[in-house]
Parts: sequence; structure tokens; C-alpha cells
Amino acid sequence: MTLSTALPLPAADLLATVLRVRPADDATARRTGAVALAAALAANATAWADLVEYRPAGRWTHRLEPAAAAAVLDPSLHADLDAAEVWLLSWLPGQGTPLHDHGGSAGAFAVVQGALTELTVTAPRSGGVRDATALFSAGRVRPFGPHHVHRVTNDGARPAVSVHVYTPRLREMTTYRLAGQGLVRTGTERAGTDW
Ligand SMILES: [Fe+2]
Repeated sequence: MTLSTALPLPAADLLATVLRVRPADDATARRTGAVALAAALAANATAWADLVEYRPAGRWTHRLEPAAAAAVLDPSLHADLDAAEVWLLSWLPGQGTPLHDHGGSAGAFAVVQGALTELTVTAPRSGGVRDATALFSAGRVRPFGPHHVHRVTNDGARPAVSVHVYTPRLREMTTYRLAGQGLVRTGTERAGTDW
């Protein structure tokens, strides 16, 4: 007797549904874990705020070592942390990224200070591109999936600080530019080579 036939019909239907959606849920689960990590790290920003620097020549980025992140986080989040990578970023007014993806990693970023503007670009199968802009102020957490393409900038008047979580760990990032009705790749940076 299989498990599903031993269950009352509604429960069997539920089980079948859960099993059917499990593969698609993987990215969602990773994204949810990233949100929890980013929110917890932002809520405990006083533990790492002394690390933050501001650099007029370019955005400051700092990979937070796993042990340092674990020391800040509740043990219930350590399993999520094992599969993730944490970066701290500062953004002076006017600083920002090019359009980029995250090499298949899902993730989330939390704004700790100031505000960040995100331009998100999607390329529907029907052709062309769609873009949307959103403002994330301190306290907001922005989750994203493994195919997310965005550009993040500090369009405000004061420095911003954010914490970014990627899961699995960031292996590469491809940059893009908008050209007509499409995205054109402009480069790829890889872990171990470019950072
Ligand atoms: Fe990004």
C-alpha cells in the first residue's frame, strides 16, 4: 500500500499537490531563507556597522565571513546560512550598479540606512523588455529569484547601507545594457577571478 492510497482522499490530493510543486518550490525556499537572513542581519546591524566604509571612488563591498554572520544570527538560521553568502554594501549618493543578474543565485537585500532605487528588467517570451522602478527605504527587504535582472542605485541625498544574501553562493554575475527592445550582455564577472 502506498502512502497516498492509505490517506483519505483530500489528504492524498494535498500530498500529490505538494509532491508536484516540490521542484518549483526550491527557488522559493531559497529565496525565503535569504529573506530571513537579510532581515535578521539588518535587525542586528549594530553588530557589523563598524565594518562599513564609504568610498567616493566606487561602491564599498565587503563579504561577511560565515563565522561573523553566524555570530550575529539565531542558530535557527544557521542551516540557511550554510548555503548562502552575505555581502555588506555602502552607497554614496549617485553610486550604483550596472544592470546585472546573479548567475542563477536567488537572494534578497535589506536596506539598513538611506534608500535604494531598483530598476528591474524582465524579458517576456513574447518579446521586448519590461522595466519597473521601485524605491526601498531603510527597513525594507527585497527578495529576488534566480533569473532576476536589476540595477540598484542610491538616488537619495544621504549614504545608504544594505546587506545582500545570495543562495547558493554567488558564482558569477553578468552585466547588461538595454538596447532597443532587448538586453545585451556587456560582461561576466566570476568568483575567484573578479572578486
Ligand atoms: Fe544585484
